[in-house]
Amino acid sequence: MQYTLEEVVNHLKTQGFVFQGSEIYGGLANSWDFGPLGVELERNLKNLWWQHFISKSRYNVGLDSAILMNNNVWKASGHLGNFADPLLDCKKCKTRMRADKLIEDKYPNLNCGGWSNEQLKTFITENQLLCPNCGAYDFTDIRQFELMFKTNQGVIEDEKSVVYLRPETAQGIFVNFKNVQRALRKKLPFGIGQIGKSFRNEITPGNFIFRTREFEQMELEFFYDVNDQTDWFNYWVEEVTKFLNLINLNPKNYSLCEHEKSELAHYAKRTIDVEYKFPFGAGELWGIADRGDFDLRQHATMSKHDLTYLNQETNMKILPHVIEPSVGVGRLMLAILYDAYHVEKVGDDDSRIVLKLSPLLAPYQLAVIPLSKQLNAAAYQVYEKLLQRFQCTYDETGNIGKRYRRQDAIGTPFCVTFDFESLEDNKVTIRNRDTMEQDRIAIANLEDYFIAVLR
Ligand code: GAP
Repeated sequence: MQYTLEEVVNHLKTQGFVFQGSEIYGGLANSWDFGPLGVELERNLKNLWWQHFISKSRYNVGLDSAILMNNNVWKASGHLGNFADPLLDCKKCKTRMRADKLIEDKYPNLNCGGWSNEQLKTFITENQLLCPNCGAYDFTDIRQFELMFKTNQGVIEDEKSVVYLRPETAQGIFVNFKNVQRALRKKLPFGIGQIGKSFRNEITPGNFIFRTREFEQMELEFFYDVNDQTDWFNYWVEEVTKFLNLINLNPKNYSLCEHEKSELAHYAKRTIDVEYKFPFGAGELWGIADRGDFDLRQHATMSKHDLTYLNQETNMKILPHVIEPSVGVGRLMLAILYDAYHVEKVGDDDSRIVLKLSPLLAPYQLAVIPLSKQLNAAAYQVYEKLLQRFQCTYDETGNIGKRYRRQDAIGTPFCVTFDFESLEDNKVTIRNRDTMEQDRIAIANLEDYFIAVLR
């Protein structure tokens, strides 16, 4: 990949896409705020996901469940107990690391998923693995590190008042399976999707918004009868690929990777990840997992509620199986922004930074630009009209070249320039971000023109 993460992050910070969280107080490790342009892109992305996976899907419906849930949810899901990492510290430089990662980084063909702390420690000792930061061989014992954030509900802070911030949105869907099915009289197969915040006390957050402790997920849990002959796993892998095409993610920059049996999460029978080639290496972007009936079975047992579905044709009660496509909003935004970032030569001695964002995602679809101050009032009228229909900005400062570069840098697909001739012929110049070509269009036809080109 051509561009460094640092270069792209600097650009996004200066342009108002992302700011360091709590910056004036020196920040809070790996927390980020989306600025005015980042939040527009984020909302466009979430709306597109919702349309593709929920409102335009003939199978699926939406949900917005609570972040704080009964602790039994996390016992049933396996998060309380299983959701912990084996950690050790280098006594010399104090670097904290995951014992399994220390081994796997040195021996990439090994997979330590499922090893006990004892096995991890023995391997590190026998192979004299050194601290990757300072080269010392002086580690603390391995301790399990709870990944869920704890807080207290109510006024008294004791063991009984402990609640957890959800580490995935999925469980809110599973516990509502029966409510949704009954209230909407849904027949299998059907899915329930939601977009919402999740929290994980990650030991190694980093790589900008790739891995954070507070993040948003877009998850779909698709319920089906396991005797159904349709290959639903493949169906959802294809839907995810279609969505990535819709948002113009360059297919050369990602690939589908099937998990080995030993790599599967405790709930999964099969998983395919979309892996994106981030500047720091390939990483999971979107996971598509076959969760079988693990979650409904666990919740049925723990809650003692009947979560089976009655097939009215066969009169048989079954526990549906689940396919889950799950993606992080911030992680997908990072891939989108990295994909879109280009530094291009213009002519012999000029260059520009351009974000080649899909018009469906760009913070602004259009920028209206008056060529001269004397034209501000007339240009503003065009802007106000376009604003009713499109995501639109108005830019009247600096020379015209600078204003075009500014819009290129934030990914605005089209600039609408109002010049002196516009007063005579009622036409404006449309400048295309990617080709930099210009077209002359009647103001009266602008709406139809942009409806046709903004897709
Ligand atoms: N419900 C299944 C689940 O949560 P996961 O693989 O742990 O599975 C799904 O997470 C997706 O959520 C990932 O593919 C990634 O896009 C995103 N994600 C997970 N942890 C994240 C983190 N700490 N920061 C940002 N995104 C994260």
